[in-house]
Amino acid sequence: MEKMVRTPYWWLSCLAILLLITKVKSSEQPQLSNENWEKTAVFLSPKFVLEPGSVSNKDYYNIDFPRGHIAIKSFNGEVIDETGNPVPLHETYLHHWVVLRYHQRKGVDIPKHHGNRVFDKSDYFFVRNSGVCDHGLSYYFGIGSETRKMATHVPDPYGIEIGNHAEIPDGYEEKWMLNVHAIDTRGVLDRLGCTECRCDLYNVTVDEHGHVLPSDYYGGLRCCYDETKCMVKEGFHGVKRSLYVRYTVKYIDWDASIVPVKIYVLDVTDVWTRPDESRGVRSRHYCRVEYDVESCDIGVANDDCIHTKRVSVSLPTSGHVIYGVAHQHAGGTGSTLYGEDGRVICSSNPVYGEGNEAGNEAGYVVGMSTCYPSPGTVKISDGELLTLVSNYSSAHGHTGVMGLFYLLVADSSTNTALHSLTYVRFLFLMS
Ligand SMILES: *[C@@H]1O[C@H](CO)[C@@H](O)[C@H](O)[C@H]1NC(C)=O
Ligand SMILES: *[C@@H]1O[C@H](CO)[C@@H](O)[C@H](O)[C@H]1NC(C)=O
Repeated sequence: MEKMVRTPYWWLSCLAILLLITKVKSSEQPQLSNENWEKTAVFLSPKFVLEPGSVSNKDYYNIDFPRGHIAIKSFNGEVIDETGNPVPLHETYLHHWVVLRYHQRKGVDIPKHHGNRVFDKSDYFFVRNSGVCDHGLSYYFGIGSETRKMATHVPDPYGIEIGNHAEIPDGYEEKWMLNVHAIDTRGVLDRLGCTECRCDLYNVTVDEHGHVLPSDYYGGLRCCYDETKCMVKEGFHGVKRSLYVRYTVKYIDWDASIVPVKIYVLDVTDVWTRPDESRGVRSRHYCRVEYDVESCDIGVANDDCIHTKRVSVSLPTSGHVIYGVAHQHAGGTGSTLYGEDGRVICSSNPVYGEGNEAGNEAGYVVGMSTCYPSPGTVKISDGELLTLVSNYSSAHGHTGVMGLFYLLVADSSTNTALHSLTYVRFLFLMS
């Protein structure tokens, strides 16, 4: 048997491991710089101006964003005013913000802040998430009023990989677009109605593209587009003000020990046409994004007035669920994603505010609970039929509600041998 000799090399190794442990431990305090540990970047969106009742829904191309080959670890944002103070939802309702990835031809001058998509489509193309809707919901990051109290961090050793040169076509560069949809509800006749984009309150019968809305379209995004106005109380005066979305991105430099995750966004309104190779039919997902909740019959106890909507879809790949969260509007009472055998993959519930201050506004969804299954415990199999259920209280009717589910999945087909090895190393360091 070989005798264990403690050479200088052995001692050096011990020191190296110790140093690594301290590095991992100190990561509990964020904002360490000059190390491959988590970095925090805080940016401001372009300014948008709102007055009582008005709506801003603009796309901002080429926003400030961390550069290089990195792994995003979290992404949050909130609306602030010109002095940097958070603005509460009952003043400015943040319907949503979404962040989209795109590749732009080098040397093409696209205005940094552009309100509308009017430039040449051949100069850029969006790089969507992993699915599953055919149109829309292709964002990387996106949240609404819940943004202040919703965890978005991606647990180690996982990360959302961006800026990988191998994925960017020659002659192109990677950029990011931010869409912010905000509604100023100071002094409006009906706060909830304005946030639910009720067409009568906006006096809108024709959508943004000039199409006459169907007579049974009572509310939703087609009635609260950019520059529309929700009815304000007679005689109410409020100042115009300049606002920003302040967004915080946490990230680490890419290295081989990070396991990339895929982003999926499921939608309870999805109408899925299953593929049928014999008839040459490919898989199609028609996602309407929004739906309405009819109020329940008078006489039914309020607690029993629950509107349930469900859909079954499957993902194009299998893998382990790393993170899950639903997106619901006010009135939402929870959403669950089930596996084909009925097991719960993730349940996510709205958190309602109880006060007046930003982050705790009574009656608003100020957060969503999230799922962080311990790695390897929640697996979605190849072709597994998932069922998404979205519940709303129907004690009152609602228009333009949503039932989305955002999932981060570690693909089973990635190089798991290498990753599990580094993961073991990681566990060892954490213990
Ligand atoms: C609603 O729109 C119509 C036509 O665009 C206009 O004539 C009417 O005055 C508007 N009503 C209100 C209350 O603004
Ligand atoms: C949705 O509502 C149904 C019917 O009330 C209930 O059985 C189910 O547990 C609810 N699910 C969630 C996710 O809240």
